[in-house]
Amino acid sequence: MPNVDSVKVAVRVRPFSQREKDAGSKCVISMNSNSTSIYDPRNPGHMKTFTFDLAYWSHSGFLKDKNGMLVSAGSNSYAGQREVFRDLGEGVLENAWQGYNATLLAYGQTGSGKSYSMIGYGANRGIVPVVCEELFKAIQNQEKNKQYQITFSMLEIYNEQVTDLLSKTRKPGGLKIREDQQQGFYVDGLKLVPCDNYAQIERLMEQGNKMRTTATTIMNATSSRSHMVITIQFKQIFLGEAITKQSVINLVDLAGSERQKSSGSEKDRLKEGTRVNLSLTTLGNVISALAEVATGKKVLHIPYRDSVLTKLLQSALGGNSRTIMIAAVSPADICYEETLSTLRYAERTKKIRNKAVVNTSPTEKLIRELKAENNKLLSRLAGLGNMGTLVADETQELRYLLAENERQIQNIQVAWESRLEETRGEWEQQYTALAQERRMMETFPYLLNINEDPQLSWVLKHFIQNGSCDVGQSTSNAIILRGLGILDKHATFTNADGKVTLTPGDKCKAFVNGVLITGKTKLQHLDRVILGSNSAFLYVGLPAERTDEDLSRYDYDFFQSELAAAEGFSTDKLGAASSKDSRADPSILAVFHDYIKLMPLVAEVNQMSEELKKDLTFELKVKNLAASDSRGYDLQKEIIVKVTHVTTNQVWIWSKAKFINRKFLMEELYQRFREGEDTHVNQDSDPFWDPVEVVHLGSAHVWLQSLAYCLQLEEQTELLNSEGLEEAVVVINLSPCSRDGRILGEDDMVIDPLELLGRRVDFQIHIVECLGVKWLRDAAGRGIQIGYRVYDLPRSLYTKPVWKNVNPKIEETVHFSALNASYEFLNYLQKNALIVDLWGLQEGCTEMDCSLDGLLLAPEGTIMVDDPKALTANDAGLDTANHMSELYQKLLHMEEETELLREINRALREENLLLKDKLKWDTSHHEKRKSESPTKAIKMRKQSLSLRESEATHSPRTSCDAEFAKALKIFYQNMNVVRQQFLQLKHSKPLQEDNLQVLHLFTERQSQLLNDLGKQFESTICKLKSDVAVIVKKQQEFIAYSRS
Ligand SMILES: Nc1ncnc2c1ncn2[C@@H]1O[C@H](COP(=O)(O)OP(=O)(O)OP(=O)(O)O)[C@@H](O)[C@H]1O
Ligand SMILES: [Mg+2]
Repeated sequence: MPNVDSVKVAVRVRPFSQREKDAGSKCVISMNSNSTSIYDPRNPGHMKTFTFDLAYWSHSGFLKDKNGMLVSAGSNSYAGQREVFRDLGEGVLENAWQGYNATLLAYGQTGSGKSYSMIGYGANRGIVPVVCEELFKAIQNQEKNKQYQITFSMLEIYNEQVTDLLSKTRKPGGLKIREDQQQGFYVDGLKLVPCDNYAQIERLMEQGNKMRTTATTIMNATSSRSHMVITIQFKQIFLGEAITKQSVINLVDLAGSERQKSSGSEKDRLKEGTRVNLSLTTLGNVISALAEVATGKKVLHIPYRDSVLTKLLQSALGGNSRTIMIAAVSPADICYEETLSTLRYAERTKKIRNKAVVNTSPTEKLIRELKAENNKLLSRLAGLGNMGTLVADETQELRYLLAENERQIQNIQVAWESRLEETRGEWEQQYTALAQERRMMETFPYLLNINEDPQLSWVLKHFIQNGSCDVGQSTSNAIILRGLGILDKHATFTNADGKVTLTPGDKCKAFVNGVLITGKTKLQHLDRVILGSNSAFLYVGLPAERTDEDLSRYDYDFFQSELAAAEGFSTDKLGAASSKDSRADPSILAVFHDYIKLMPLVAEVNQMSEELKKDLTFELKVKNLAASDSRGYDLQKEIIVKVTHVTTNQVWIWSKAKFINRKFLMEELYQRFREGEDTHVNQDSDPFWDPVEVVHLGSAHVWLQSLAYCLQLEEQTELLNSEGLEEAVVVINLSPCSRDGRILGEDDMVIDPLELLGRRVDFQIHIVECLGVKWLRDAAGRGIQIGYRVYDLPRSLYTKPVWKNVNPKIEETVHFSALNASYEFLNYLQKNALIVDLWGLQEGCTEMDCSLDGLLLAPEGTIMVDDPKALTANDAGLDTANHMSELYQKLLHMEEETELLREINRALREENLLLKDKLKWDTSHHEKRKSESPTKAIKMRKQSLSLRESEATHSPRTSCDAEFAKALKIFYQNMNVVRQQFLQLKHSKPLQEDNLQVLHLFTERQSQLLNDLGKQFESTICKLKSDVAVIVKKQQEFIAYSRS
């Protein structure tokens, strides 16, 4: 009878990684019993809760015991490896004993802890080794009338190719998947190793891991993109009862589930390297389809056959298996999106229903059926007497069949014994090799491999024996290395006179502690060695040099940070370039981490480009390192890749997502190249090729505030690239004007921008010229365009292209009109800058559209801004998330404004009370004096009236505001002069840098200019101070007068 049960789902949250700690991450996960909640870091009130069968809190509340095991530090909320095994591993074992198939899948993004739960690290052993060990322990305690057969296999699926991790030879193209009526899908030729003790399994896992590490290097693959499947076939033969029970246990460590952002403009021209993700994508599709089936929907097709992984897991998903999924998640806010997506995936998975049955052997069933049949026939035979020759014949045949079956069982058992014997032999050989390796480790210095995946680090050791030993691809070398960028004879290690040196071959890349070496270099214990593009090793020195130092700090990130530092890239430098204040931007650390993660990939891509003769170089850059948005807030920083054609100088900018996608496609091409296949591809499908594009070079901020006061602004400002370096200078004027384009004078200035509310506001943006465009200095045949976007316009405006000119004259003026200036628009003018973008044109690219198409024009032909309809249309286009965040921003803004209004209200009330007091005082005096002298009283009344009249027309508040505005205007104009002087100072260069006389004169002039600048600056500040002092004094006098 099949047992219908759902896939059991457990979620596990790990501790912060170093990267997350460095980035000052906050934990966004909380757990309560079996429910898991996740908070949106951008919107902390927003929380989503999921309920799974189990929830493991492994994030905090633990300590390391003396064996290195992480155990609870007292509170019982922490779940360590032991607890996870107790709930999940024991269930797997129990199922296996009962004869059910069992599957355990670990799902989650890279670095989320899948391998930690499945395989484990050091003393913190995961489910797989403990399940195996416990299985053998239990077997030893069983009664003797049973026989047990256990086979172990280990395979990897990468790029839809299956590699047998226990086979010494790698089949090109991988092993094939075949289908069998009885068995379903299976891997043809996969090594199933019979085992009769746990030590064998431990050794096999080690061997498989070694194979995986080597395969990763050979195929230039990223291990986190591959799936690992360990299969244990467990058969119990009940000798007395002639029954067998069989269970297949699949333990699957899935590839990292992260998806690349591929929305909007980031979308790549080429489809994702689909084969890399095919198995994971199909797994998702199968799970979704099965979840629909479980909710009663009619699903016609479940796409098991679409990928290798889903073929192999067919029975685990919706079939004959008891299945468990561990969803591994990071606790950090920076991983919020990925974690949420993992939880959603897990939620779908838990709906899947399986129908598990106890697997009894088909032979066994047949025997039982035959016996029953036999008995029936025998009794019929007895009834029939001698007449039934036909029946007797049949019975004889049945007897024969019975005997045949028994012989078969015997055969199987004999075969099993001999297979076991064979592997014991192999195992002993390996054991000797292992013992030898241990001895060598104690005698010789060696290189210890360091992999991006910590699971594959420290797996390979290369010994540097006495004398000299060559390293390279060729099999004649003492150390054979197959990594990317490693030549046939790449380098030589020499171990002589108690010291070890490394000498790279001609044109062979070798780095020691992040620095590229060109000649013989002495190695010290724990030096970091990188050979070729990305084969990293920790050098373990001669025994005498060794210390007790913990080697675990020298992980892959350590190597890459060191390389980055040698290139002059560090968090300090990043921080200094980006933040204007001393507070480091937390996103800097995330960017830094991305940078060092991508560095080796860039090195590999450069190597592939060179070998495939693509003439392209790839460089990592940080987008928005020094850029801010129109309100001056830092923009989200991200890594981009600059691609340059070596001969044509053409430039492309790739997003990180596009680069990663392309890299997978390049790997496929490169793999074909290595295997000697034809690597010709059409331009359209060439991952190295892209049409020539317009490149964003830099931008400038031109603050719009002057327009809010109807003041003209003449600006000359630098266009800075994303690293904050000058790309050019732009000369731009912002001029308030009348509807017919007449520029307004100073008299038209307004004191309060709100005076413009509801009125028509016209202004012009005049882009005069660009100066010293670096893009043109680098290659004269190029061109530029300038683009900017004003307020609610549906698109950016671009100036006409100017080609081949380092100082392009632009002279373009655009007139904008707000017919009915709204509060939001006036607010925009006061608080925002116009972002002026410089775009680089290169031969063959499509220029930016410089027409006014798609823009709304006023009757005079000017461009309409602040159009209420446009705003709603834009809003409708935004997705809900954006909309929500905008609403949230608006709410904050309104709260700010309310607070301000409250302040004003309070001040007004105080003033009101003051005036009331004054009025009382006036009236009482007036009453008193009326009796004193009527003529005096009349005089007084006149005086007081005139005072009130003047107060009414000229309240102290408005007069004070006007004077402030005037003082600020003067300050603003003076500062513009200071700014001009500063720019002049900044851009002046000596005519001849090698002539001392000229340099002397230049320095003198510079110091004169600096002096002038200082004076001008001082006097500007003094003027502002004195103006403000006068205003404040007047105000105080007035208050004193009003009180008296
Ligand atoms: N529960 C945990 N407790 C302590 N450390 C953990 C835990 N889970 C993961 N880690 C640590 O986090 C790191 C990444 O974990 P792991 O290698 O298991 O990730 P993964 O999901 O297998 O990634 P990949 O997809 O790259 O294979 C490792 O250094 C591991 O030791
Ligand atoms: Mg892993």
